[in-house]
Amino acid sequence: MQAYRIVPHKQLPFGLERFEREARAPGPHEVLVRVRAVSLNYRDLMITRMAGSMTGKVATPIPCSDGAGDVIAVGANVTRFRPGDRVAASFFPHWVDGPVSAQRTAEALGGLDADGMLAEHVVLPESAFYAVPAHLDYAEAATLPCAGVTAWNALFVEGRVKPGGTVLLLGTGGVSVWAMQLARAAGLKTLITSSSDEKLARARALGAHETINYRTTPEWQDEVLRLTHGQGVDMVVEVGGQDTLNRSIASLRMGGRLTIVGRVSGAGGAPVEPISLIVGNKHMTGVYVGSRAMAEDLCNFVTLTGIRPAVDRVFDFADAAQAYAYLESAAHFGKIIIRVGN
Ligand SMILES: NC(=O)c1ccc[n+]([C@@H]2O[C@H](COP(=O)([O-])OP(=O)(O)OC[C@H]3O[C@@H](n4cnc5c(N)ncnc54)[C@H](OP(=O)(O)O)[C@@H]3O)[C@@H](O)[C@H]2O)c1
Repeated sequence: MQAYRIVPHKQLPFGLERFEREARAPGPHEVLVRVRAVSLNYRDLMITRMAGSMTGKVATPIPCSDGAGDVIAVGANVTRFRPGDRVAASFFPHWVDGPVSAQRTAEALGGLDADGMLAEHVVLPESAFYAVPAHLDYAEAATLPCAGVTAWNALFVEGRVKPGGTVLLLGTGGVSVWAMQLARAAGLKTLITSSSDEKLARARALGAHETINYRTTPEWQDEVLRLTHGQGVDMVVEVGGQDTLNRSIASLRMGGRLTIVGRVSGAGGAPVEPISLIVGNKHMTGVYVGSRAMAEDLCNFVTLTGIRPAVDRVFDFADAAQAYAYLESAAHFGKIIIRVGN
């Protein structure tokens, strides 16, 4: 089978090298999946950068956490799947349910110590897989494991947002657009920011109630307060990091909740003045993708509501490096896909 790995010393774009590996047969508790689509995440760029700083002739495992495909063979003891089932794999293959732990979050797919999905075939324990909603095509289903589950966890598990609440999403990347689509379908009022008016128009077409251009309105937290009649929002899915964290806190209502997801604006520190949380009794919590149980709850909700996640562009398997370059350019709205096979 064909797959990719990252070999930084070869001076390939993003270090991505296509290689041939024999597909192995599934063990008694394992499932063999023919991957049909892979979805890129900001993390995949971070991993190419981390791999680039490694010295020596090092190749990473197969990259990318997010993919969907068809079961083509199952081990003798597998009970949950049979050939022909359409599945995705959990970002954390050992986190089936229950609270987060170091053991459950070990060997995340497509990291520096475990193979991911940018391959024609993948073998994992059956406990790592879940069935994807029937109305999603492979490209849409491939966006579930990291971006979809993180948005679900940030809103409804760690975020604890209630029906009728108001949420703020930052930028129009994969997690934020997924969160906007979920929030809208759940009957929440949605505000979203972007650097681009064209992307904000796309967000409104997908159902965003209020939009703010954070370039032309640099003090966007004031606009959030104006749009919420001085109250602030019930929660923010905080993907921005250093340039956005304090503005997100200022955008929250008293008692509101910030789910800390990422740092697309930069990985530097963002000193938080304790009084900004104390006055107003505001909450902050980290989010680390989520469990297979959360993925299954997300799939039930997506099936019930008919949501189709926003896919921006689809690249061929041979053009994986171009897909990474497109992600790096941040020109996308929602998700970028690499098609695998025909
Ligand atoms: N904790 C977790 O479990 C978890 C899971 C998934 C992702 N993440 C993290 O979450 C972040 C988002 O991931 P992603 O895959 O959704 O990224 P992505 O698709 O690459 O998002 C890129 C977008 O971020 C927006 N952005 C950049 N700077 C911004 C700023 N200063 N203010 C507001 N928006 C800004 C831009 O939107 P516009 O073009 O509209 O301006 C840009 O297009 C990353 O840091 C990622 O590592 C964490």
